[in-house]
Amino acid sequence: MLPFPPGSMVLAPMVAITNRAFRTLLHELGGPDWYCTEMASAEAFLSGGRHESIYLDPSPVPERTSVQFTARSPEALAQACERLAALPPEKRPAGVDINMGCAAPHIRGEGRGSALLDDPERAIAMVGAARGSWPGLLSCKLRIGARLGEEGTIRLARSLADAGLDFITLHARFSTQKFRGTSDHTVCWRLAEAVDIPVIANGDIASLEDANRVLGLQPDPSLQNGVRLHGVMIGRGAARKPWIFARPPMTDIDLLAIALRYTELAEHLLPIEWQLSSCRRIFHYYAENLSFAHHVRTSINRARTMQELRLFLMQYFREVPQDRHIVRDTSESARHE
Ligand SMILES: Cc1cc2nc3c(=O)[nH]c(=O)nc-3n(C[C@H](O)[C@H](O)[C@H](O)COP(=O)(O)O)c2cc1C
Repeated sequence: MLPFPPGSMVLAPMVAITNRAFRTLLHELGGPDWYCTEMASAEAFLSGGRHESIYLDPSPVPERTSVQFTARSPEALAQACERLAALPPEKRPAGVDINMGCAAPHIRGEGRGSALLDDPERAIAMVGAARGSWPGLLSCKLRIGARLGEEGTIRLARSLADAGLDFITLHARFSTQKFRGTSDHTVCWRLAEAVDIPVIANGDIASLEDANRVLGLQPDPSLQNGVRLHGVMIGRGAARKPWIFARPPMTDIDLLAIALRYTELAEHLLPIEWQLSSCRRIFHYYAENLSFAHHVRTSINRARTMQELRLFLMQYFREVPQDRHIVRDTSESARHE
């Protein structure tokens, strides 16, 4: 039994975005049912990498957070899991996720991320090694392998499940596709039919409506066996609309207050050298809510200090006050999502 129920929404791992500060913001706004940290290298964690303990900090809700590892070898992953398991409860995450989807060249080049889809034996050994040394929830996030194809990926996923996973997430794109095209969630559904563990669908889910559509998906209506996706994972949609997980949905969203709160959290919770860069990453998506997104992104990229960034945000909303609130009611003066 998973600690999050059917129909759950899960935060996707995103480098430089789903750090502790962003997860705290989501939590304050009514966060997801489950959180994932950005990826961290198992090998760097073991050798005392400077930032690994920050990447792997499961706050603010360790009991509902998985940390994500990339690893080159099953042995390193097993040792990293052992070390995590020995941490005090407030520092110990509830879950470990294994990255088998990242297609960035420097990750693939080291045999990590989606390179594991080209080496199914090592991928299965990774899960077995982690299972042997990690008593908590164990999951894996993958894309559709370019060499394996859809059927091959589903076969691999079945072996990964047998090796000891508690759930599996599929970003329904090919490993070579980057972010081109759109995700085909029917593959996630076919995966759910093929494995005995819960499946989470990921890719291009950007609203509650999208989430409900994917969760209700049953591509072959003649099949009455009730196979359902367990949940959806949301990545970029959460950076665009950090209130996306709130249940019941928020009715009055103050875009300035949320942006300023993130800057405050970044200053309190992130190392100084990450603060501006994480704001730039997140506001790149957040700016899509605004009339002058390009201008906002450029100005935020130019800001040299957090104070300059905050002053720009306040000035923007003074000059374009109609951008400040999104309300979900019939009020005439309000913008609607
Ligand atoms: C900026 C950025 C960083 C990402 N970092 C990771 C990562 O660390 N680990 C991972 O498994 N996927 C990573 N992804 C992929 C996302 O977790 C997710 O699979 C992808 O964005 C598709 O979901 P979405 O359409 O909801 O954004 C990243 C994506 C983005 C845009």
